[in-house]
Amino acid sequence: MHPALLALETHFSPSTLSQIKHELLTQHRIELWLKRDDCLHSIISGNKWRKLKYHLNHALAVKATTLISMGGAYSNHLHALAYLGQRLHVKTVAYIRGEQPARLTPTLRDVLDWGMTLHFISRTDFRLLRYATPTELFMPLQATDYWLPEGGAHTLALLGVGELVTEITEDFDVLCAPCGTGTTLAGLIAAVPAPCQVLGFAAVRHGQFLTRDITKLLPHTYTHWSVNTAYDFGGFAKTSPALLHFIAAFERQHAIPLEPVYTGKMLYGVFDLIRQGYFAPGTKIIALHTGGLQGNRGFTRD
Ligand SMILES: Cc1ncc(COP(=O)(O)O)c(C=O)c1O
Repeated sequence: MHPALLALETHFSPSTLSQIKHELLTQHRIELWLKRDDCLHSIISGNKWRKLKYHLNHALAVKATTLISMGGAYSNHLHALAYLGQRLHVKTVAYIRGEQPARLTPTLRDVLDWGMTLHFISRTDFRLLRYATPTELFMPLQATDYWLPEGGAHTLALLGVGELVTEITEDFDVLCAPCGTGTTLAGLIAAVPAPCQVLGFAAVRHGQFLTRDITKLLPHTYTHWSVNTAYDFGGFAKTSPALLHFIAAFERQHAIPLEPVYTGKMLYGVFDLIRQGYFAPGTKIIALHTGGLQGNRGFTRD
C-alpha cells in the first residue's frame, strides 16, 4: 500500500458493530447489527474509502497526476474523491450529470473548494459515460490521467470492500447492503463465504440491471446472493413520507444518523422483510451502514 494512503488511514476511526434493539426483532427472534462504516471518517465515510482505496493505490503506483470521475450534484463518491485528491496532492476532475445549476449544491461547493474541476454534461451523455470512458465520448485521456468509473465500479474496488468483511468477528447468517452501482455488494459477495447470504437493496429504479452488473464485476460464479428491488421508493434519491418517518424514528430510538438515499432505504427494507417473516427465527443479520451523510444536505426534513 502506498505510504500516503497508509498515513491517511491512521486518522480513521474504527467501524464498530452496533446491535439494534427493537420489539419487532424480539418478536421475530431476529438479531440485527449495524456495521458502522459511517464512523470511519467525517468525509471519506462509509463505502467510499473501501471502494477508493485500491483505485488510489493503483493510481499512485502508475504515477497518475489527475483522477477523473463522474457523478451527480450530491455525489458522495465525488465528495470523497475531491477531498482525497487534495490530501494526496493529485488533481481531480469530474463530469457532473445535468446542466450547471444557478446555485451549486453544498456537495459541489465542497468539491470546488478542494480543487476539483467540474464539467457539466447532459443526462444523455452522462448515461453513455456510465459504460464508456471520456476518451470514447469527449477527449483523449492523457497517460497520467486515471479514470474512475461511476461509483468506482471496477474489480479494484472489491478488494477494499472485502477488508470490511475481515473486520467482522461475529458469526452471522445474512449481510445486507444498499446498492447504487452494485460494486459494494460485489465486494461483499466475493468476501463472504457461503452459506452466509449477501442481500442487496436497490436504491435506484429498475434495479434489475444490478444483477447483471454485479455478475460482471465478480471473478467467479456465486449463488449466495440476491438483490431486492422492492424498496427503491420510486427511484434514486426519491423518498416517501413513510421512509422519512421510519428514518426519523430510527434515529431517535438508536441515536444513529441515517440518510434516505441508501442506508435508510435498506433498513426500511430489512425491517419490512422481518415483519413479513422473510427471515427464519434465529437469523442473525448484519447490515452495512454505507455512510454518505453529507448527502443529507440535499433533503429538508420536518
Ligand atoms: C453512501 C452510499 N451508500 C451506498 C452506495 C452504493 O454503493 P455501490 O455503488 O457500490 O452499489 C453509494 C454509492 O456509491 C453511496 O454513496
